[in-house]
Amino acid sequence: MDAPNTRILPYNKYNIAEAAALIAAGKCVAVPTETVYGLAADATDGTAVAGIYAAKGRPSFNPLIVHVLDIGAAKKLAAFDARAEALAAAFWPGPLTLVLPLKPSSGIASLVTAGLETIAIRVPAHRAMRALLEACGKPLAAPSANASGTISPTRVEHVAHSLDGRIPLILDDGPTRQGIESTIVREVFGMTRILRHGPITGAQVLAALSDGKHKVDRFDTGEDAEGKIEAPGQLSSHYAPRKPLRIDAREAAEGEWMIGFGDIAGDDNLSPGGDLTEAAARLFDLLHKADASGKPDIAVAPIPEHGIGEAINDRLRRAAYRA
Ligand code: TXA
Ligand code: MG
Repeated sequence: MDAPNTRILPYNKYNIAEAAALIAAGKCVAVPTETVYGLAADATDGTAVAGIYAAKGRPSFNPLIVHVLDIGAAKKLAAFDARAEALAAAFWPGPLTLVLPLKPSSGIASLVTAGLETIAIRVPAHRAMRALLEACGKPLAAPSANASGTISPTRVEHVAHSLDGRIPLILDDGPTRQGIESTIVREVFGMTRILRHGPITGAQVLAALSDGKHKVDRFDTGEDAEGKIEAPGQLSSHYAPRKPLRIDAREAAEGEWMIGFGDIAGDDNLSPGGDLTEAAARLFDLLHKADASGKPDIAVAPIPEHGIGEAINDRLRRAAYRA
C-alpha cells in the first residue's frame, strides 16, 4: 500500500467536497459519526473496501456496516419487514444498525457483507457523515477508524495516532457524542435479536416494537444470566463455502475447482497480477462462484502472509477448517 501524508481538515463544505473526491477515487477517509469516528469508503467498490481492511491492518474480514442518508436509500439495499420499518422509524437517524436480508440488486461489494445474504445498515445522525453521504451519493461502508486491536476512536487524535500515514484524510468535527458503537439488531425471518449492545438499549428496542402492531414474542437480547452477550455478530456471521476447500494448492487435484493467485493459474484467479488488495476485493465473489461450479471440491493457491494477505489467509483457513 502507498503511504499517503494524512491531512486533518475541519468539517466544512470545502473539505467535505475534498473527502467526497477522495472517496470517488477509491480512497478511504476518516469521518466522525455520533458514535465513533468511522473509516469510510464507497460500499459498491470492492477494491476501495479492501483499502479499509488494509489501512486498519485487520487480520480477518468482518462484515462492515453500510451507512446511508435515509430509509429510502436503505430500502434499495435490503428487504424491510414491518418490524424493521418500526425500528427504523423509531431510531433513524441515530445509533441503531439493522441486519436485514440483502437485496440481490443492491450493488454492494461482496467484501462489505463478507459474502453473506444479509447486510448491516444504519442511517447516521452526525452532520459530517451526513454531508459526506450527500456529497458522495453512494452508500458508505465504515468500521471504526482505528487500527485493528486498538480502542475505538472518539477524538480526531485517536484516529491520527492509529492511522497516521495510512489514510489520506481525517475530517475533524470534535469529539463524538455517544462514544460507543451503534446497537446492532438482527431483524430477519420475523425475529429480533440484539447482536451488539450500544447507545440504544434492548428495552428501547422492545418498546419500539410494542405498539400493538408487532408480535414481540421472538425478541432476544442474546444475553446469558450475567448479562454478557452470547452471540456477537462477529462470531456467527461468516459465509463459508459448502464444499471442502484445500488451501496452499499449487495445482488442482481431480474434482477441484481451482482458485489461482498470481502466476498460479486456475479456473479463476484472485489477482493474476498478484495484487493482494484486488484479491481481497474478489475473494467472496470467487468463493461463491466456486461453490456454484460443477466441481465437488475447491482448491486455493497460496496467498502471501503479509499486509491484507493475512486477512485473506485467516478467512481461507476458517473455510478449510469448516469444510
Ligand atoms: O457506530 C458504529 O456502528 C460505527 C460507526 C463508524 O458507524 N461502525 C462500526 O462498524 O462499528 P463496524 O464495521 O466496526 O461494525 C461491524 C459490526 C461487526 O460486529 C459485524 O460482525 C457486524 O457489524 N455485522 C455487519 N454485518 C453483519 C451481518 N450481515 N450479520 C451480522 N453482523 C454483522
Ligand atoms: Mg470496530
